[in-house]
Amino acid sequence: MGYAMNAWYMAAWSSEVGEGPLARRLLDIPVVLFRRDDGSVVALHDRCPHRFAPLHMGRFADGQVECAYHGLRFDSAGACVHNPAGETIPPQAKVRTFPVHERHHILWIWMGEAALADPDRIADLSCIPEDPGECANIGNHLHVRANYLLEIDNLMDLSHVNYLHRGTLGNDSMRGHKVNVHEENGAIHADLWMPGTIAPIYSALFGRPCDQWTNIVWMAPSAMRLDYGAVPPGAPAVQQPEDVAVHILTPETERTTHYFYGTCGVFGPEQRELAEMIRTAQTAAFVTEDNPMIEAVDERMEGAELWSLRPAILSSDVASVRVRREIEKMIRRENRSESAAEGNVESAVA
Ligand code: FES
Ligand SMILES: [Fe+2]
Repeated sequence: MGYAMNAWYMAAWSSEVGEGPLARRLLDIPVVLFRRDDGSVVALHDRCPHRFAPLHMGRFADGQVECAYHGLRFDSAGACVHNPAGETIPPQAKVRTFPVHERHHILWIWMGEAALADPDRIADLSCIPEDPGECANIGNHLHVRANYLLEIDNLMDLSHVNYLHRGTLGNDSMRGHKVNVHEENGAIHADLWMPGTIAPIYSALFGRPCDQWTNIVWMAPSAMRLDYGAVPPGAPAVQQPEDVAVHILTPETERTTHYFYGTCGVFGPEQRELAEMIRTAQTAAFVTEDNPMIEAVDERMEGAELWSLRPAILSSDVASVRVRREIEKMIRRENRSESAAEGNVESAVA
């Protein structure tokens, strides 16, 4: 089905690009990210235009990269600024660059038409504090062998928690509650309120009756914010900032995904243990419960597009189907404007 290209995707956590470069395949394109001396981040196509050596294998200094194969040197705008052979620089010696914007401790990349890269369109993850403390539970990254839409389906379907995560994140008392789905400014919300249930293992009220909730919101193209909590029955449902999680997915290829996650709240040195506990519980749920299932589903689907397999749809699929429809719309819009542009060129030539 392809990807919505004119959108900001998460390329990496800010902390992943420090002194050295970071090489990462994003939306099927190999990219290398590195910092200039002023700290700003540059994203280049990770392929030298001479004989296609990966540029991340080169030498990085002064905001430039020198290809490790024959020494062509490129600046942060992708222009070739030095040819060691001393000859004229061929016009093809140019590397594609991608707009990058650093916000919320995240490096956002725009892989589509650069002129449209408006930072106002970056997903709102302001729930991640400006200064999340030295033990912050952000910076987590998993590699998943599945299409990114299957990961979004999984996150937007809150009903799976009480089956796939039974005994860890969920339990039988949390089953059968109705998810409320609505849209707000282009974001899709799925809210699940579970009064009079038993608190699951990660809650301070573990094993006791409670009112609890899990709400998730999707923001284009693939960022989600999830909040959860449990309070004694009838008590006000106060949201704790550290019980707000972020899940951000970026396709690596059609069948593999970068999964970035973390929780909000401030974790100073005195919260080291709590932060570690949350990180370990989250990672364990993804690694031992979600991802094996999603990878197995991807394998069963054998690369087929979801709708072509005519899936049985349940009411619990409402949010994930709405998100898929939004992404499909974004892709269709891009394809339409591309063919309109092609049409203009053809009529101008005719
Ligand atoms: S492949 Fe990069 S300079 Fe030759
Ligand atoms: Fe899950």
